[in-house]
Amino acid sequence: MSRVDPPSVVNIADLRAIAKRRLPRVVFDYIDGGAGAEWTMRENARVFDDVMFRPRSAVATANVDLRTTVLGETIELPLILAPVGSSRLFWPRGEEAAARAAGDAGTIYTLSTLSGCGVHDVKAATRGPVWYQLYLVGGRDVALAGIERAKSAGCSALVVTVDTPVAGMRERDVRNGTRELVSGAPFTMLPFVAQFLARPRWLAAFLADGGLMKFANVILKDGPMPYADVAAALEQSTVSWADFRWIRDAWQGPIIVKGVHTADDARQSIDHGAAAVVVSNHGGRQLDGVAPTLRVLPEVLGAVNDQAEVLLDGGIRRGSDIVKALCLGARAVLIGRAHAYGLGAAGTAGVARSIDILRSDIIRTMKLLGCASVRDLDQSFVGDNMQHRIGIV
Ligand code: GLV
Repeated sequence: MSRVDPPSVVNIADLRAIAKRRLPRVVFDYIDGGAGAEWTMRENARVFDDVMFRPRSAVATANVDLRTTVLGETIELPLILAPVGSSRLFWPRGEEAAARAAGDAGTIYTLSTLSGCGVHDVKAATRGPVWYQLYLVGGRDVALAGIERAKSAGCSALVVTVDTPVAGMRERDVRNGTRELVSGAPFTMLPFVAQFLARPRWLAAFLADGGLMKFANVILKDGPMPYADVAAALEQSTVSWADFRWIRDAWQGPIIVKGVHTADDARQSIDHGAAAVVVSNHGGRQLDGVAPTLRVLPEVLGAVNDQAEVLLDGGIRRGSDIVKALCLGARAVLIGRAHAYGLGAAGTAGVARSIDILRSDIIRTMKLLGCASVRDLDQSFVGDNMQHRIGIV
């Protein structure tokens, strides 16, 4: 029995608790925290409570089919691993570790531009598909080279994140000294280093993995970009609709726009060539005060009108959350923190466990609903009064 098996780990919150005990505060809070008062982050998760199921009883569903297709690719369950920057700080070669678990589960891993492992290594680590998430850190030529590497590695879609003209105000990161810790100046760093000494097992693994990661997919003139705190990196990452022309010309494959909150931006995404959009507020890490994603899903679905696939992320902690999102029209969901806690807790085994928890929860929920296939989930499985509350009618 591993430390991420039952009875010690039953749900995603249990993995979060283990990650919290293993990781230094600055690393754990980077995963766990959001922007401003963290209202949007909390609300992303809470809004699932407003959705109530309407099960069909006395329906025998011995086998439940979780398979679906996203951009023509079949995945074994309707969840995809979201891009999570700096995953190599959570576990040695963290992006490879997480991608391996995704591939073993038959789903897609999305590699953030701000990762510690190179795209070819990540693709080689998994049996499954890999998407590459694009930030324009380092400017257009650096991004173009990143797109070329993603292509040659065999990534099957490009995820362009559009909600980072500046980094959100992540107060926990400021308090934990994220900026000071990467300054390289010993006296500036000193007040913040005790948090590493309090986590010797993490520290030993971090040092054995080569110490502070570089951004292996942002290759500057002198080599991979040295680690900067993510806020500083995001400040260089503004993308505008005009950039989609050269991005499209370079990539020549399916593009997914991540960070869509409104009907207008959904239409802009389609006009600029998106094959899919992700209804996302960056897990509440960017503009605090925007509506939770489940609430804006109906508006986006209406605007997209089947011209692109619609995915959703934010606040997913249970398989039943995923079922609710699918009932309300999402094709599949992306999970960020839910897999990052597993990675921080136990590497590949932890991510595998977080996927297992969600998978068995989806299966049980579907059986209790009396629905045999995720492709048959629709609004008839959720209550009318809740549709009011989350703004469908
Ligand atoms: C990176 O995208 C982050 O949200 O930290």
